[in-house]
Amino acid sequence: MSRKGFSVSELTFQEEEFSRQIDLGLWRRVVRHAKPYWRQLAGLCIAGLVVAGVDVMLPLSTAWLIDEAVANGVGPRLWGLIGLYFTLCAALCVCIWVFIELAGQAATGIAYDLRTQGFARLQALSFSYYDVRPVGWLVTRLTSDVTKLSSLIPWFLLDLVWGSLLLLGITAAMFWLNWQLALAVLVIVPPLSIASVYFQRRLLDSSRNMRRTNSQITANFNEAITGVRTTKALVREREALDEFQSLSGAMHSHCMRNSLQSAIYLPLVITIGSLGVGLALWRGGVDVLGPDSTLTLGVLIAFMQYAALFHMPIEELARRFTDLQAAQAVAERIQTLLDTEPEIQDSPEVVKQIEATAIAEAKPNVAMDGGPAVIKRVEFRDVSFWYKPDEPVLKRFNLSVTPGETIALVGATGGGKSTIASVLARFYEPCEGEVLINGTDYRQRSLHWLQSNLGIVLQSPVLFSGSIRENIRYGRLDATDEQVEEAATLVNANVFIDELDDGYEFEVGEAGSRLSTGQRQLVSLARAVLADPQIFILDEATSSVDTETERLIQDGINRVLHGRISFVIAHRLSTIRAASRILVIDSGRIVEHGTHEELMAERGRYHDLYVGQFARQKEQAWLAGDEQPT
Ligand SMILES: Nc1ncnc2c1ncn2[C@@H]1O[C@H](COP(=O)(O)OP(=O)(O)OP(=O)(O)O)[C@@H](O)[C@H]1O
Ligand SMILES: [Mg+2]
Repeated sequence: MSRKGFSVSELTFQEEEFSRQIDLGLWRRVVRHAKPYWRQLAGLCIAGLVVAGVDVMLPLSTAWLIDEAVANGVGPRLWGLIGLYFTLCAALCVCIWVFIELAGQAATGIAYDLRTQGFARLQALSFSYYDVRPVGWLVTRLTSDVTKLSSLIPWFLLDLVWGSLLLLGITAAMFWLNWQLALAVLVIVPPLSIASVYFQRRLLDSSRNMRRTNSQITANFNEAITGVRTTKALVREREALDEFQSLSGAMHSHCMRNSLQSAIYLPLVITIGSLGVGLALWRGGVDVLGPDSTLTLGVLIAFMQYAALFHMPIEELARRFTDLQAAQAVAERIQTLLDTEPEIQDSPEVVKQIEATAIAEAKPNVAMDGGPAVIKRVEFRDVSFWYKPDEPVLKRFNLSVTPGETIALVGATGGGKSTIASVLARFYEPCEGEVLINGTDYRQRSLHWLQSNLGIVLQSPVLFSGSIRENIRYGRLDATDEQVEEAATLVNANVFIDELDDGYEFEVGEAGSRLSTGQRQLVSLARAVLADPQIFILDEATSSVDTETERLIQDGINRVLHGRISFVIAHRLSTIRAASRILVIDSGRIVEHGTHEELMAERGRYHDLYVGQFARQKEQAWLAGDEQPT
């Protein structure tokens, strides 16, 4: 728990858990991503096989070399063996180069594919998916998780082939040379395996704790940096530091444990390995010196080399299997992301219908189709909606709108106004009831058709890095410069744009951070106007613009909205006086409706709200010295 009473990113930590059991079904699905790189992977297996072969051959050739030198001295046979030795070394170098290259190619390719697919999936997923997942969590999936998984696949395969073949090869060679001595060396296998598996598991646990704490630290950093103004303003530096220190303290102890484990593990494995060498030397040495020795010096040296080599594949295999366990959570998260179907998408019938129309009319852009050209009526019929099942937001909401009507939604914060807009835009679908367009449930038409007929200015405007011109043109990519400027002029955005040095080429910065909120609203308003949609939704589109500018753009907006279906959400009631219908929304229901005049005459909730705001405006105007109190 953090100082604010909620955990920084609970989801991240919940999903970090994983089981030790290798989930074959999951890995089968994951391995499919490696299919396009089967050539590289096959090459890796061959390289692994050759390297294992060379690793087994090198001690043997050393043995032959020594025995030949001892028995016959320098001669053509010795030169031949020296040649063999160097050829093996050269083959080893080439294979290492080949497998590093191939593993790199496969890992990069798999990472590229996973990232592209993951990104495409994220673009397709519905809003509800993003509601419960922190941005940082999603970014980690496509960055470090993908890197981890994509490099694991080729390296695991290589080590599996190399390690198991090397173990088999060494064992076979030792038995072939001298079975008694082979048995003596193999005594080290059980303690070596136990130590490797034990320590790898401990290391896995501690490094998992390190990773988990690290992501908490990153989240903490992120919040601390982005929230530094609030922290300072509320004089909470001490608490922020305390919280950070407790996290870093935890990180420190996990790191210490991890280093201690590594510090014990490596010498232990080397010691056990040396024990094997010692055993070979002792048993073999006695044998070589014995009067009826069957063992040559060369073979003894080969044995010592095998004994020294033996721990490498065991250690490597143990490490790769723990990597696999550790990566299982990563694999599962990525695979789940790729397998998640968007909650809102065209139904199979709609897809079929669109395809049929496309074939019949030979239209290339099938997605554009799937609905009538002119929208004559939008109707909410008994729409109920909730984000969480036991907390209804809209309750049996009914509304019918025709072109030329501007519907204003007003009411208390959290009443459900933005939710009505989201349901209309099909960002979310009704949980009960239906939204009808020209009398047909919008789920029977394509999403693309609906959304390309919608122009939305969201409550918190989103701009992308790039120039103002590019951001406005995002509404209609084929618009000319003149059309972009016309749209900006219509909503009065040209006034502030003309004052900028670069004008329309001004770079807005990440998420439009170099513009004020009001300026961002004007740009996104121009963008929506440029798109020229049949349905307009303006959610607090001008809430951060000063009243004077708002008055100036009101005319422009009214002209744009003329003849269309429009929904305007506003807290500043002066802006919606002209709306054809005003709906007062409270807890997801319409509690009052009518024109401004009707509602004022009713003297109900709207009247009170309006009079309250009007009085405040007057007071402010008076304080500013513009008017005398009345
Ligand atoms: N993505 C979401 N996930 C869960 N609950 C949500 C989500 N968005 C809104 N809510 C909840 O739904 C209710 C209605 O929210 P909504 O944003 O529609 O209100 P609003 O009328 O637009 O308020 P405001 O005037 O402050 O913009 C609120 O109680 C809010 O907590
Ligand atoms: Mg809202």
